Amino acid sequence: MTIAKHIFFTSICFFVFNSCASESNEQSVDDRLNSLLSKMTLEEKIGQMNQYSSFWDVTGPAPKEGSTAKQFEQLKNGLVGSMLNVHGVENVRKLQQIAVEETRLGIPLIFGFDVIHGFKTISPIPLAEAASWDLEAIELSAKNAALEASAAGINWTFAPMVDISRDARWGRVMEGAGEDPYLGSKIAHARVKGFQGDDLSAPTTIAACAKHFAGYGFPEAGKEYNTVDIGAQTLHNMVMPPFKATIDAGVRTFMNSFSQLNGVPATGSKYLQRTLLKEKWNFDGFVVSDWSSIEEMVEHGYAENVKHAAHIAVEAGSDMDMQSFAYVEHLADLVRSDIVDEQLIEDAARRILRVKFELGLFDDPYKYCNIEREKATIGHEKFQEATLEMAKKSIVLLKNQNQLLPLKKKGLDIALIGDLADDKTSPLGNWILAAENNSAVSVLEGMKAYEGNNIEFSVGAKLNIGPLEFAKELKINTTDKSDFAAALKTAKTADVVVMVLGEHGFQSGEGRSRTNIGLPGLQQELLEAVYKVNKNIVLVLNNGRPLALNWAHKHIPAIVEAWQLGSQSGNAIAQVLYGDYNPSGKLPMTFPKSVGQVPIYYNFKTSGRPNLPSPDEVFWTHYQDETNAPLYPFGYGLSYTTFEYSDLEIISQSGTTIELSVAVTNSGKFPGKEVVQLYVQDHFAQPAQPVKSLKRFELIDLKPNQTKTVRFTLTEDALGFYDDDGNFTVQPGEFSIYVGGDSTANLTTKFNL
Ligand code: GLC
Repeated sequence: MTIAKHIFFTSICFFVFNSCASESNEQSVDDRLNSLLSKMTLEEKIGQMNQYSSFWDVTGPAPKEGSTAKQFEQLKNGLVGSMLNVHGVENVRKLQQIAVEETRLGIPLIFGFDVIHGFKTISPIPLAEAASWDLEAIELSAKNAALEASAAGINWTFAPMVDISRDARWGRVMEGAGEDPYLGSKIAHARVKGFQGDDLSAPTTIAACAKHFAGYGFPEAGKEYNTVDIGAQTLHNMVMPPFKATIDAGVRTFMNSFSQLNGVPATGSKYLQRTLLKEKWNFDGFVVSDWSSIEEMVEHGYAENVKHAAHIAVEAGSDMDMQSFAYVEHLADLVRSDIVDEQLIEDAARRILRVKFELGLFDDPYKYCNIEREKATIGHEKFQEATLEMAKKSIVLLKNQNQLLPLKKKGLDIALIGDLADDKTSPLGNWILAAENNSAVSVLEGMKAYEGNNIEFSVGAKLNIGPLEFAKELKINTTDKSDFAAALKTAKTADVVVMVLGEHGFQSGEGRSRTNIGLPGLQQELLEAVYKVNKNIVLVLNNGRPLALNWAHKHIPAIVEAWQLGSQSGNAIAQVLYGDYNPSGKLPMTFPKSVGQVPIYYNFKTSGRPNLPSPDEVFWTHYQDETNAPLYPFGYGLSYTTFEYSDLEIISQSGTTIELSVAVTNSGKFPGKEVVQLYVQDHFAQPAQPVKSLKRFELIDLKPNQTKTVRFTLTEDALGFYDDDGNFTVQPGEFSIYVGGDSTANLTTKFNL
């Protein structure tokens, strides 16, 4: 087709598209929706409910045979509403042109992508960001991810993952905000605001997606995709609050969970998706299934076949079918056989189209396809600066005996040991679909940026061997110790040994559960071997989950939790080790002494026999071979300075509004940040409540010897809980308040309601 003809053809299509799909702009979204839906066939409405992953490389020829040819035909016939895993302006534009210019009604596609912690510039894994407790920084991190992703043609992210989890064996704890529903809710709200901004129609904001609805973080035995069996109190008081927080933040999409919740796959749960989400919470966005989770109801033994699964899912309120072909192949027949009410199709299509209108895709389907913006935005330096700040704030100081840290900047012989110390891919974590391997700053690079010390690097032992593939098992080195000798030689003469040990980024994330949560491979053996020749060790952890580190805690003088910190990992770690940033992170998830304690968490329910009745008696809640206490509790994190808490007092109480204040003093030599945490205990209630629950926190800065009075206001939300029907209730009785720098806070006061 000549250029002139192409321009003519495109302008005709654009005119037709405008007259069909968008009507006049001043009409309300609902009017435009009604007008469009009135023109759509049943098949076209079902097409909106059909989502495919990129099924061919659009820069190449269109598929001619096989299932991809069928998908391509469906795309051209307006039977595809969304694509995922397509990015880059050129690729998105090509697909959008087919939908807008070659189909009967020209309805634009919505492009989804897993922008979980950054897009091209990778921020710390979400569990690490949660350790910052810095809601503004977390929101900015999501906003920057949206700026980059939207410049690459993406208009919808499958984030934030808001699954509460208490089980470090589960690989996807890296993707959430840890074990606490209050912190998890605040972070969920911040992330949605970051992604969606104040104007979803802006080309720099993207629709967010609260996932995985619901209960996915409680798989039995921490085993991925395993069944979830939880009671109403856990469901309504632990699992649901972060999802409700995303609703309050205006989230426009939800994703349901792979797992079976109390016998019902979430994808087929009418209670979750209609009764709770769409009716009780008045959610008017749409629900996308997780990848092929509709057809997987057959594997769950819940549906007889895929057609039956489609019937169950659409009635349950699962609006869009990600990649299981169930809707596009069976819904029309189910409607024409009077098995499924067409109104359900109309409602699902309406929800999906509404979000497309809100994104502005009907006004300009190519608004996310600006090649100049793509070139100017992706990988921009400003994202690196923000990611570095976020990474520093995410680091948690777990131990610092004899003030081994911070390190002197001059005159030291430092042995830097560990495969992860010069790894430039692992610090990017697991969800790095659009990032480039080897794009992170390594610890070695970060440390060498400080030129006053002599850094001798030695790998010690390879952590993993073989290729790195997102969907394939990672092979861990358990035999090759050929680098031990060199590492020990380096360590022996060093002033300080910095060991970077932990997990590879592909040892956590989806499909990455572990039964042993110690240091993988030969790392524990290497650590103990180095300790024999030099006890002055700083252990820097890179990991995507809480690890069981009993031996290290007993022997190693300094331990720094550095998670997987993303593109600026090495710079953030070096700046903390050298004291240019005083670590301020606090654990969002309990670290166990042993995997046998898991699931272990701070907001547990007491038992009828919580205490040792008399020495050596056995009839109480305990283990024979381990204490009940964790290694490091929720909310824990040290600083290079110290903080003292005093003068906790109730200033006033009026019904369920209680004003409190507490004095916090920086009693050390370094300026520092402290997360002041307030926990509430309802001493008796029906049903019984946790021994304590985080209900407020405040991040403060204090100079040496400075004291700040922090004030908190408690209202009903801090004093009540959800009953078994999910209704909020506050019961009278005695309450205690605990305030401090972690969940073992013992500065306390009481009041009655
Ligand atoms: C995956 C994940 C989900 C992700 C989706 C699309 O299996 O469970 O979190 O958003 O598929 O990649």
